[in-house]
Amino acid sequence: MSINPIPVIAIDGPSASGKGTVAQLVAEKLGYHYLDSGALYRIIALAAFEQNVDWQAEQAIATLIPQLNIKFEHGEIYLNDSNVSEKIRTEQMGQGASKVAAHPLVRLALVDLQHSFRKAPGLVADGRDMATVIFPDAKTKIFLTASAEVRAERRYKQLINKGLEADYQAILKDLQDRDARDSQRSVAPLQQAHDASLLETSQLNIEEAVNSALQAIPANLQ
Ligand code: CDP
Repeated sequence: MSINPIPVIAIDGPSASGKGTVAQLVAEKLGYHYLDSGALYRIIALAAFEQNVDWQAEQAIATLIPQLNIKFEHGEIYLNDSNVSEKIRTEQMGQGASKVAAHPLVRLALVDLQHSFRKAPGLVADGRDMATVIFPDAKTKIFLTASAEVRAERRYKQLINKGLEADYQAILKDLQDRDARDSQRSVAPLQQAHDASLLETSQLNIEEAVNSALQAIPANLQ
């Protein structure tokens, strides 16, 4: 296999760990491109839902994927030319994403699309298997996490700040269900790569987490 010189910073971690926010800020800081791989699984869940395809129907979903026109433009996400940025962020689509993401054929159908984000001068990729499966040659690998209770509290506050109703215990249970499904699936389970640095953010605010992530990135990539 030929060596790809374009650097990748892989940031993996569980739901609501803040890795998306940290990854975006690191990408901005470095002037790199950004891949939100979780958004892809959310889009697939939404597309299946809208076409009445069951989230358990592995083959049917995998067949659907090549027909989808997915675009990321100026921070907005489009599916077949309709802006789905808001629609894919619901808890329902989060649960759907974790169900469709457990199918090997679905993961396989998204590999080339994820690789296509690797463009000069570099890429920050966030997800569950960026360091282990999609970009095993990433220059920097970070496993960003926080306790389930802290993550549930962060999500709870986000919802309340948006003026939405929220139930802390229900959020905690959803996160724990999703953690269990993501870590126990047979294909590309959520796990820390052996060569990844652990970034525990339970006691850190966003700025501190971004600074710690930047410290893990070699100076020649900054
Ligand atoms: O926002 P949150 O962290 O809750 O989730 P997300 O990053 O948007 O990902 C949604 C779901 O997609 C996760 O629960 C995973 O099951 C799945 N996923 C995955 O399997 N592999 C990835 N590289 C990214 C997400």
